[in-house]
Amino acid sequence: MRKKIVAGNWKMNTTVAEGVELAKGIVAKVNDISKGVSLIVAPPFTHLASVGEVLKGSPVALSAQDCADQPKGAFTGEVSAAMLKGVGCAYTILGHSERREYYGETSPKLVKKMAMAFENGLKVIYCVGEKLDQREMGNHFDVVSQQISEVLFDLTPEQMKNVVIAYEPVWAIGTGVTATSAQAQEIHAFIRETLRVHFGEKVAEETTILYGGSCKPSNAKELFACPDIDGGLIGGASLKADDFIAIAQAW
Ligand code: 13P
Repeated sequence: MRKKIVAGNWKMNTTVAEGVELAKGIVAKVNDISKGVSLIVAPPFTHLASVGEVLKGSPVALSAQDCADQPKGAFTGEVSAAMLKGVGCAYTILGHSERREYYGETSPKLVKKMAMAFENGLKVIYCVGEKLDQREMGNHFDVVSQQISEVLFDLTPEQMKNVVIAYEPVWAIGTGVTATSAQAQEIHAFIRETLRVHFGEKVAEETTILYGGSCKPSNAKELFACPDIDGGLIGGASLKADDFIAIAQAW
C-alpha cells in the first residue's frame, strides 16, 4: 500500500507567530484523522525552527518549500538542504509551478536541487503540472511527461522511494477552479504509467501522487476516492487548521 499524504504548502503567508498558532491548531486535531494518513506542513523558511518546535512529538512532518542547488558558500539569499535538515525538515517541495514561473526554475536546476536534498537525507515533493494554454491545446500529457522524465528518470528506484509527486495544474492553483476528479485521475494514471514504463511496476505502485489546485474540504473526498490520487498538496485551505484537517479526513 502506498502512503496517503495531505501536505500544506503555506507559500509566502503568515508571520512566525501566526504560523506557530496554525501549527498548534493542526497538532491539536491530528488525532481526528485516520492512522493511515500522513500530514506534512511546509511553512516559509523563517518559520521552520519555531513551527518545528510545535510539531515535535507529533506525527506531523516538517517540509521546506524549496532548497538551494549548491551545498554551501557565497550564494546570498539561498538556503541549503543541509540547513533544512538541521532545522528538522524531513521534506522539501521542489519544482512548484510558482518557482518555475517566477524564479526561472528549469529541469537542470531541479536535478541539482534534488541531488542536494537526497545527499542531506531530505525527501522531495516534486511538483509537475501544465498551464491553461497547454491543456487547451491538448499538450498536458507531453508537458507532464517531460517534467517527469527530465528530473526523475536518472534517479534510482531506491531514490524514488524518497520522492512524492504532486500534480498541480497551474490553471487550478489559487483560482477556485479545481480539476474534475476525472481530469485529475486521468493524468495521475498517466503519471503512474510513465513511472511504470521507466522504473517498473514496484516504483509505479509505491509512489505517492498528490493532487494540488484549489483542493478543499468540499472536493477532497471525490478527488481522493480516485484510484491513482493518494492525497493532496494544499495551498489556501492549508492556512486554516480546521480546513486542513477536514481535507485529511476525506478518506
Ligand atoms: P491552492 O490550494 O491555493 O490552489 O494551491 C495549491 C498549491 O499550489 C499547493 O502547492
